[in-house]
Amino acid sequence: MADFKKNDGITEAQIAVHWKEEDYYYPKTHFIAQANMTDEKILEKFGEKNFPNCFKEYADLLDWYEYWHTTLDTNNPPFFKWFVGGKLNACYNCLDRHLDKYKNKAALHYIPEPEDEPIQHITYQELYRRVNEFAALLKDFCGLKAGDTVTLHMPMVPELPIVMLACARLGVIHSQVFSGFSGKACADRIVDAKSKVLITMDSYYRNGKLLDHKKKADIACNMAKEMGQEVEKVLIWQRYPGKYSSETPLVEGRDFIVNDVLKDYYHREIEPEILPSEGTLFLMYTSGTTGKPKGAQHSIGGYLSYVTGTSKYILDIKPEDVYWCMADIGWITGHSYIVYGPLALGASSVIFEGVPTYPDAARPWRIAEELGVNIFHTSPTAIRALRRLGPDEPKKFNYHFKLMVTVGEPIEPEVWKWYYHVVGKEEAVIIDTWWQTETGGFLCTTVPAIHAMKPGSAGPGAPGIYPAILDDNGNQLEASSNKAGNIVIRNPWPGRMLTIWGDDERFVNQYYRRFNRDPESKDWRDWPYFAGDAAVEAPDGYFRILGRIDDVINVAGHRLGTKELESAVLLVEEVGEAAVVPVADKIKGKVPHVFVSLKPGFSPSKELEEKITQTLVKEIGPIAKPGKVWIVPDMPKTRSGKIMRRVLAAIANKQDVGDITTLANPDIVKQIQSMA
Ligand code: PRX
Repeated sequence: MADFKKNDGITEAQIAVHWKEEDYYYPKTHFIAQANMTDEKILEKFGEKNFPNCFKEYADLLDWYEYWHTTLDTNNPPFFKWFVGGKLNACYNCLDRHLDKYKNKAALHYIPEPEDEPIQHITYQELYRRVNEFAALLKDFCGLKAGDTVTLHMPMVPELPIVMLACARLGVIHSQVFSGFSGKACADRIVDAKSKVLITMDSYYRNGKLLDHKKKADIACNMAKEMGQEVEKVLIWQRYPGKYSSETPLVEGRDFIVNDVLKDYYHREIEPEILPSEGTLFLMYTSGTTGKPKGAQHSIGGYLSYVTGTSKYILDIKPEDVYWCMADIGWITGHSYIVYGPLALGASSVIFEGVPTYPDAARPWRIAEELGVNIFHTSPTAIRALRRLGPDEPKKFNYHFKLMVTVGEPIEPEVWKWYYHVVGKEEAVIIDTWWQTETGGFLCTTVPAIHAMKPGSAGPGAPGIYPAILDDNGNQLEASSNKAGNIVIRNPWPGRMLTIWGDDERFVNQYYRRFNRDPESKDWRDWPYFAGDAAVEAPDGYFRILGRIDDVINVAGHRLGTKELESAVLLVEEVGEAAVVPVADKIKGKVPHVFVSLKPGFSPSKELEEKITQTLVKEIGPIAKPGKVWIVPDMPKTRSGKIMRRVLAAIANKQDVGDITTLANPDIVKQIQSMA
């Protein structure tokens, strides 16, 4: 057993699982025989000596109006620019160019949650038509043009990629907010992006319930206005065209039903804008170490090249495949690997409303059989839930996956093996892809027909990605050291975000300050990208990701900033102080536990715990629901008054609290422990 010694420097490293070094599993010959990358020579092209030209391999998968003159511009590090001088349009690459060959082929299969509603199969021609019409509406009805921003708060419906692609056609920057997020969270993102238009839907299904989604738009617009950003138009799609399914009334002059307005734009065609490679395609907000979410600003040329290349060579997508990624398009996985990558390759991509375990744990396998899905992409949280609720269900269905993906959190080898043996029927290759919102696409993964799989380990750097483990002083830890350290990427790559929207300084500080060797240097080698994860490199060069080292909790593969949660809890009148810590959970990986101490004159009660829970749900969304609210007499603090979150995390995780002699109030620890 490999003993993962904690590197002393990483004080906050959460070494989630101490699992054994596992055996290798190998791809089957039937997979290798058909794979897009089987030749190690292609892989060699991505070696360090061919950097940065190796990424031409990806960019050449796209159609460019003008070819670039500079592959990588490093003049202003770490603001690296890719394919400079190149001109393209992302929507053209995802739609127009496929029409000759594939116009009658399904681009999207849409599975509504109610099983008595028909599955929709939307061809490339149909998608092209609908995108053009909506682009005409955005242009003429809303007056939007290239460089403007628009916020989307849309559920998992085909109208979401339609809106995204229509924006991309015009060069309008879309910022999709996960539909499960609250009106308040949406407002924060509207204000930061300075959007004047919000696009939403009246309602959608989740877990058997038709949720009123329009009410969140009202909250979002009202709060955004209070914060100084007026939303001039709210465009509302109908979940059931022709029928408004929301209890929330329309606001005269501001709210418009898309399905009605669209009639004026039927049959319209809009020429795709010719846009620079370094232009912005979209913003994707993610949690950071401060309360304010940050908008990862992704490029057109670099991003689209990277997600198209990795979709082809890592996901092994071909136009004839039926590819199903169960993530939500409101997260980066959905943007990169439901919409942009697969559609740029002319694949058929599945969009799924609802949750994998509703109405029962056989639902995904029924769908896989019905649609002939052969590539399946999901998260450890979904796999754990399906394994718990229906361990034998996959065997009952006649589907065959050639490749399966796990993403978003570390996967325990036991769970990996169930995925391999039962879900994949020992036929499918598994790739465990480690990456982030900021990185646009995969960073560590095996190349499915070339590398062996190792349960619980993401694998080596993706082609052209050179990761390393550094200790806190920036010294590289050798693969054989068995020490956990900070995982960094030593080189720039095309999928990385351009910057944080409106905050270049935060971008540099967060991702580059830490291990920069010389702030004046123009050499990319001096600018390693700091990912904020702890990891270990095995002697075979495979990276095992251990979890976040900063103040971010990864709940079911979604990032929540502890500061965001704490700020929400502090809105509760009775609360004096709040601290939120991650606690291990069998299904979701991690859940937040909330510790609060009360203002004088208030006392603990079940009602107050519930009030705190509801505040988090209201302010952030159901995903922020705490595993437990602890109302404590006082917080453990350092002598300088800092709350010791490390101690609280140890108590909640039933671990040893370590040395507490330096606390100002060590006695409180026993009191809190007795509440467990
Ligand atoms: O901690 C890592 C974890 O998820 C974080 C990124 O979250 P987000 O930006 O929301 O993107 C999720 C989808 C790419 C990372 O910093 N993470 C992501 N993939 C893995 C992972 N942890 C372990 N194994 C993975 N495969």
